[in-house]
Amino acid sequence: MPTKIEKDSVTGRETTGHEWDGIKELNTPLPKWWLYVFYACIAWAIGMFILYPSIPYGTGYFKGVLGYSQRRAVDAAVAEVAAQRQASMDKIAALSFADIRKDPALLEVALTDGRITFATNCQPCHGAGGAGRPGYPALAAGAWIWGGTLEDIQQTITHGIRSADPDARQSAMPRFGADGILKPDQIQAVADFVHAKFYGHPPLAADIAEGQKIFAENCAACHGDAGQGNPQMGAPRLASKVHLYGGSLETIVSQVTNPRMGVMPNWNTRLDPATIKALALYVHSLGGGQ
Ligand code: HEC
Ligand code: HEC
Repeated sequence: MPTKIEKDSVTGRETTGHEWDGIKELNTPLPKWWLYVFYACIAWAIGMFILYPSIPYGTGYFKGVLGYSQRRAVDAAVAEVAAQRQASMDKIAALSFADIRKDPALLEVALTDGRITFATNCQPCHGAGGAGRPGYPALAAGAWIWGGTLEDIQQTITHGIRSADPDARQSAMPRFGADGILKPDQIQAVADFVHAKFYGHPPLAADIAEGQKIFAENCAACHGDAGQGNPQMGAPRLASKVHLYGGSLETIVSQVTNPRMGVMPNWNTRLDPATIKALALYVHSLGGGQ
């Protein structure tokens, strides 16, 4: 197609020389404002190229004269949050439980920290929200084996129960069956008594007086005459709807025959004192705190 540049008579501008069916294309220049914005964008891009990390080469990249790095920015933000948390945790470590509870903002930090620590460290044994499971006490139920004040809970978490810690809480139920202290029919009788009198089920035996006698002689010293338990000795409350090992007659017979003596790890080697305090506040808040 032959091109012929000519002047348009209406606008006074030149055409591009392209023509289709008599329609000619005007060579209208770009608007000045658009052109300057375009140039400004180019200048801006070059500036950004120089200031910030940009051109990749071989094994690395041009880091930019500002030395900015997104990773460092994230690290700084994380460090700032950690510093804020550390300030709160230092306060938690220094203050008494009573003072922490007087400061709603600090208590909130403690409970949040406790909830997160509980989910990762304690939940596998004690269940979500401290609901418990056979062999692992329900921490939300208020049926404390070792006492449910903040200090009791802090002590239990710090040193554990029958753990390797020299200050661990210690208690032992005699192995009445395994060591031949009671005969199988006596164990059956005392278990039936506990199951009926304290766990609230119909007795199997016509007369539970025999079981009652065995209980008074062998069990009441630790578990109490009324099965009320003894937090000083770590003897669980038997007169309760919440049981460490379950509520069936078989579990009682099994416990009296060969007690299980569960182990609660000591956490002083794994968690710092402030975190343990936060945990104690959280566990206490689950519903059973005293
Ligand atoms: C390996 C399993 C296990 C883990 C993990 C564990 N516990 Fe325990 N915990 C136990 C057992 C078992 C007992 C009961 C011991 C007994 O028979 O007296 C117990 C008892 C307790 C008690 C005493 C309950 C009472 O009635 O007096 C508290 C409080 C407690 N745990 C808190 C925690 C906290 C908080 C954590 C997390 C830091 C935790 N436990 C992690 C197994 C565990
Ligand atoms: C020297 C103290 C001691 C004596 C005596 C004792 N117990 Fe225990 N008993 C304990 C302790 C401690 C536990 C908790 C075991 C554990 O934490 O694993 C326990 C746990 C139990 C449990 C489990 C409770 C639950 O919540 O599941 C039953 C049932 C029980 N004892 C019944 C008896 C009976 C019946 C006798 C008498 C024949 C007896 N005990 C004598 C200390 C004692």
